[in-house]
Amino acid sequence: MGEASAVDGTRFRAATEEDLPACAEIHRASIEDVLVARGQPVVTWQTAPLVELLSHLRTTDPERFVIAERDERIVGFASAWVRGDAWFLAMLFVLPADQGRGLGTRLLETVLPHSDDVAADGRPLRLGVATDSGQPVSNALYARHGMVPRMPAFILKGPVIHPDAFPRLPDGVTATSFAAIAAGPPDGPGHRRLVDVTGAIDREVIGYAHPDDHRYLRVTARRGHLYTDRDGVMLGYGYERGDGRMGPVAAVDGALVPAILGHLVASVAPPPRDFTLVVPGACGPAMTCALHAGMRIVEPPTLLCWDRPLADFSRYLPIGNALL
Ligand SMILES: CC(C)(COP(=O)(O)OP(=O)(O)OC[C@H]1O[C@@H](n2cnc3c(N)ncnc32)[C@H](O)[C@@H]1OP(=O)(O)O)[C@@H](O)C(=O)NCCC(=O)NCCS
Repeated sequence: MGEASAVDGTRFRAATEEDLPACAEIHRASIEDVLVARGQPVVTWQTAPLVELLSHLRTTDPERFVIAERDERIVGFASAWVRGDAWFLAMLFVLPADQGRGLGTRLLETVLPHSDDVAADGRPLRLGVATDSGQPVSNALYARHGMVPRMPAFILKGPVIHPDAFPRLPDGVTATSFAAIAAGPPDGPGHRRLVDVTGAIDREVIGYAHPDDHRYLRVTARRGHLYTDRDGVMLGYGYERGDGRMGPVAAVDGALVPAILGHLVASVAPPPRDFTLVVPGACGPAMTCALHAGMRIVEPPTLLCWDRPLADFSRYLPIGNALL
């Protein structure tokens, strides 16, 4: 990012770990402001998991996590990541009182790749972001930079009253927990095998491997399952968490996604009251099954935006809005 610069008394610099609680507070205040303006109920976040996510983003991409600071107070921040040839804007938030004065644009331009930035293997970078569909400011800002809204992604939430709405895993398909594969020391052969298998599936389905995100999923208590056929051929993976959160899910053949979801629902023990899932519009059968199972659409969809396609979302259910 080079030297910190000053625009109207605002300085832009790389974030430190100590800045992250203040960033979490800006995230909360700016989203709350949007919800209140729309007359929507204000949801409360737990700060610790958000700071943990921000810390993961800063650890993998320190030069792409930037704050705007005025009078020694943080007034906005942006965080982006690069995995393979995908550049993705994970977060962009400006304090309500400071919005509409060019800070968001400046933060975005600071973390966007330069025209000559390429992936480690020389491929040009694809740009992407997930936005709030009811937020014209951010949608316009990103679309101006080529990241045009292309696909809705729905958050489904609620009890699974009819688990049979999800098909069973086909005969011959076996599920193996990641814990069984990666048993042993943290960087031992089991762990390396897990990195290899998830990497192979990810490269096929989303075009790049993201082992650091899989590590983040595991340390934040999501339990992964690998699906293979009788010959040991890898068919996909899926994650569930004890509180009912499901995803990400990746399947080499998209037809398997609903059955993986059914297996994940049955795997969460003890059964939670509610399950949660992010489903892109391209994964129609997963959405149909989840709704028949009893899950509900709880809020307007987010919009997946890109300049060139980011992933095959008919075969991939993302981690969330900040991590694909
Ligand atoms: C989105 C956000 C980061 C933008 O930051 P900001 O500092 O307010 O934005 P800027 O002032 O730099 O730029 C906004 C631009 O959008 C334009 N804009 C606003 N409404 C628009 C509309 N309906 N259509 C088209 N353009 C619009 C503005 O004209 C401005 O462009 P200009 O400077 O050329 O006039 C900030 O408003 C925010 O934090 N919002 C709440 C949280 C949020 O939605 N974050 C994004 C998560 S996806």
